[in-house]
Amino acid sequence: MRNIFLALLLLTSVQLEAQKFTGLALTPPMGWNSWNTFQTKISEKLVMETADIIVSTGMKDAGYIYLVLDDGWMSKERDNNGNLVADPEKFPHGMKPVADYVHAKGLKFGLYNCAGTKTCAGYPGTRGYEYQDARLYASWDIDYLKFDWCNTDGINAKEAYTTMSRALHTAGHPIIFSLCEWGNNKPWEWAKEVGELWRTTGDIYPIFDSVHNFGSWSGLGAMRILDLQKGLQQYAGPGHWNDPDMLEVGNGMKTNEDRAHFSMWCMLAAPLMAGNDIRKKSKETTGILTDKDVVAVDQDAMGIEGFKYASKDSLETWFKPLSGGDWAVCFLNRNNAPVNIHFNWSQEAVADAFSRSMLNADKTIYHIKDLWSKKNLGTTQSPLVAVVPAHDILMIRLSR
Ligand code: GLA
Repeated sequence: MRNIFLALLLLTSVQLEAQKFTGLALTPPMGWNSWNTFQTKISEKLVMETADIIVSTGMKDAGYIYLVLDDGWMSKERDNNGNLVADPEKFPHGMKPVADYVHAKGLKFGLYNCAGTKTCAGYPGTRGYEYQDARLYASWDIDYLKFDWCNTDGINAKEAYTTMSRALHTAGHPIIFSLCEWGNNKPWEWAKEVGELWRTTGDIYPIFDSVHNFGSWSGLGAMRILDLQKGLQQYAGPGHWNDPDMLEVGNGMKTNEDRAHFSMWCMLAAPLMAGNDIRKKSKETTGILTDKDVVAVDQDAMGIEGFKYASKDSLETWFKPLSGGDWAVCFLNRNNAPVNIHFNWSQEAVADAFSRSMLNADKTIYHIKDLWSKKNLGTTQSPLVAVVPAHDILMIRLSR
């Protein structure tokens, strides 16, 4: 009896052990997702046009590789065999040719589903169909799955996401697994072996520093999401990222606010999923999304999340250790008026306990580059003196 009990215990613990593909998302995933602009109004045409433009406007070269369709790609019912079906009106040729088109552009293709019985927008969820859905995605060569958390009453999050992770691995096609349970069950504490990224908060909304109340839920401004990242730095790293939600760059905030939002996502080593209509994007939006110096901060190989070093009168100073002993630094102005900065490097003791990095401007001279204006701002031998406009950011790189 005791042996049977032990065997059962072993079996249960083995089943709970997730098994994700290794080596995926060694830097934060980058791409585009349909939700923030299109919600369920998506189509084959939108995917193809978006894929074309990701390539022609340099987004692919900047690193935006994953084109992901969010909620709304399915028919309202599974077929007689229980398989998910692409909505025939939106995707008249099915999903495989769409995936093939995206792949032919040198991009990767992702889809969305939900751990519950239905997705958030009411389409068939994956609960009870994990292995069947995973096999279907593998047969379509799907490279990325965002997995949501609506209609999950009574379900254990760790178990549900672990089951899907195992199903994807068993199906055999390498796939990034993006957990989207809004941080309710602290996925950062258990999802490192389950997926490559996990949402840390509720949904983002294209406002800078406030909350938009929709009644049953609230959309969070970029700065509000930033505040909720406190304490999570230690959980992120190559292959497993905190996800503060998709980008709202180009979706209605002012250019300076977009710049501040984007800079801070890069400081957080966040996944960079553009969420705008890139067929209509302005030169400013393209410029922000594809800035090589800023994206390089996000994609730094060490994969260390930045941290808030100081905060005074709505001016926040953030540091992020980078490879080779470099640092990214942001002076983020959340005020409605410009602020003056006077930062005396030799009098500051900047250290990151997590990565054991220290910035010692007494002993090391760093060269300072303004990453947005591309100007050389001298070295850390003299104090940094600057003005940061309202709702804007000064983002610099210190190089040895
Ligand atoms: C949830 C997610 C969003 C989006 C929608 C789709 O709200 O958090 O990112 O995927 O569902 O219905």
